[in-house]
Amino acid sequence: MAGKVRERKAEHIRICLEEEVEAKNITTWLEHVWLVHSALPEVDYGDVDLRTEFLGHEFSAPIIVSAMTGGTEEAVPINKAIAEAVEELGLGMGLGSQRAALEDPGLAKTFRVAREAAPTAFIMANIGYQEVANGLPVEALERIICMVEADALAIHLNPLQEVVQALRGSSGRPFLERLAEITDSLDIPVVVKEVGFGISAEVARELERVGVDAVDVAGAGGTSWAAVEYYRALEAGGVLKAELGRTFWDWGIPTAASILEVTSSTKLAVIASGGLRTGLDMAKCLALGADMTGAALPILKVAMKGPEAVKEKLRTLMEELRTAVFATGCRRVADLAEKPVVITGPLAEWARARGLPVEELARRSLKGQI
Ligand SMILES: Cc1cc2nc3c(=O)[nH]c(=O)nc-3n(C[C@H](O)[C@H](O)[C@H](O)COP(=O)(O)O)c2cc1C
Repeated sequence: MAGKVRERKAEHIRICLEEEVEAKNITTWLEHVWLVHSALPEVDYGDVDLRTEFLGHEFSAPIIVSAMTGGTEEAVPINKAIAEAVEELGLGMGLGSQRAALEDPGLAKTFRVAREAAPTAFIMANIGYQEVANGLPVEALERIICMVEADALAIHLNPLQEVVQALRGSSGRPFLERLAEITDSLDIPVVVKEVGFGISAEVARELERVGVDAVDVAGAGGTSWAAVEYYRALEAGGVLKAELGRTFWDWGIPTAASILEVTSSTKLAVIASGGLRTGLDMAKCLALGADMTGAALPILKVAMKGPEAVKEKLRTLMEELRTAVFATGCRRVADLAEKPVVITGPLAEWARARGLPVEELARRSLKGQI
């Protein structure tokens, strides 16, 4: 079993690096989110402050490298490069699913390498909802947390990927019941994330009810796990699974819509991710109400070149974010959440249809002036 998981993890890395695995006919809809330019910024560029606090941890900017890998030898240099970079820059990272290391403790080192290279950075442990729903004991979760001295535990929801991968998928009900027990028992925050299809208001409310601390929307518009599994099925000659992967390639809630869904229906802390490719994308997510942002695929691509390349990419994202904060007339990154945001096009239609209060966003800074 562990051998199979290890092989699959290596295939995921290879396919994500070699093939076009991103959404083709949908986007994040962040192009329909407009920050209002300030021709008279209130601060000097050099004084813009990106520091933030999230789940009790200080970050030099609200950026986390999203969960990717571990459980295969190929993951070691990747996790090490990302960890070295986030440690130096004061950012955070998620690890990939640690299921393989539970099945074969010899694989723990492929995850632990991250904590060794990042002794103080924010690191999230990771496991799938399917394992949790199937009754993985709290003691096993504690083991994966200890394995990397994690600051938070992320549990990923990937029902659609499971179907395309193996024509299976659990009902959410037993998972939610277990989750209530887990959030009660663990003494670190629990984050629930998607893997690229987004989280709706309805799901977010259920997660809030069972005591989850934060949600990572991982919306549609970036890496598509239907696409990744399509390529795996094609290579294995699985015609039906390949067809499913092709049909659901562009499935999901676009990231911008998912952020609005979650922020307008719960008080959960929110990580925005899924197709974020620039610091400007990140600024738009923060203005929509997200607390943190994340990216996976663009970091995987540079991680293959080593820690310096990851640092360069992350510094670019930080500088783009700083520029957006400056150009909207903010001093601190948190001020973005007070600035007006105009929502247009299909995102505005989605918000209207779902009753999400977005008109308020556009008038934010005019309050008190009219
Ligand atoms: C190679 C690779 C492996 C991934 N493995 C995991 C995983 O094990 N657990 C998880 O929660 N998410 C996993 N993800 C999903 C990412 O965390 C993220 O939610 C998704 O890729 C969307 O972000 P992006 O568009 O920036 O890539 C993986 C992503 C990539 C690219």
